[in-house]
Amino acid sequence: MNYRLPTYDDYEILKEYVEEHYSNYERSISASIDLTNMDYKEWVDKVNRNSEVRDDEWGKYYLYLVFDANKLIGLLNIRYNLSDELRERYGDIGYGVRPSERRKGYATKMLEYALNVCKEKEMQSVILGCYEDNYASNKTILKNGGKLYKTTIEEKKLNDNWSINLKCNYYKINL
Ligand SMILES: CC(C)(COP(=O)(O)OP(=O)(O)OC[C@H]1O[C@@H](n2cnc3c(N)ncnc32)[C@H](O)[C@@H]1OP(=O)(O)O)[C@@H](O)C(=O)NCCC(=O)NCCS
Repeated sequence: MNYRLPTYDDYEILKEYVEEHYSNYERSISASIDLTNMDYKEWVDKVNRNSEVRDDEWGKYYLYLVFDANKLIGLLNIRYNLSDELRERYGDIGYGVRPSERRKGYATKMLEYALNVCKEKEMQSVILGCYEDNYASNKTILKNGGKLYKTTIEEKKLNDNWSINLKCNYYKINL
């Protein structure tokens, strides 16, 4: 597998990646940091800049396109420079795998890779958050040694009138 930052030339493959999610009735693209609501070139500039320069919301981060045999498999976001408060709210790592490539072990490998990057950054631990009903993500974290340390209730707005409460599990992995 190959991990790298996005370039201007990736426009078409990312467009196809996003469309596959939409065809699967998924409106949000995990780990994509504003990909779908920014001008593409500005997004590439921002993501490359923020791999070295702090962003107010996400600190410094790597947003990697993950390939296997030249196919874009998923997105991996390693937020290696968050404040303690934001670590507790967002977690240090986010990931998503395109619908047609799920259940093949990719997310498990991507998280393992991310943990190694965090080790290189001399982080002592990582925090990961995911909704309790996201069985696949909970399992991915557990398979990488995650220990549940808190569960919170988060209000999710469905529209102006409706919201639901969702349970979110937070895990810690010591590096
Ligand atoms: C969560 C997600 C990244 C998992 O990716 P994946 O590549 O399918 O995960 P893996 O293949 O590494 O599977 C990890 C474990 O979960 C299990 N699993 C994955 N999807 C599953 C499903 N739909 N139902 C039951 N088990 C599932 C796998 O079998 C595996 O466990 P096993 O090794 O004991 O068999 C993927 O489903 C996804 O992109 N979802 C939408 C975005 C998202 O939820 N991101 C995480 C936000 S916290």
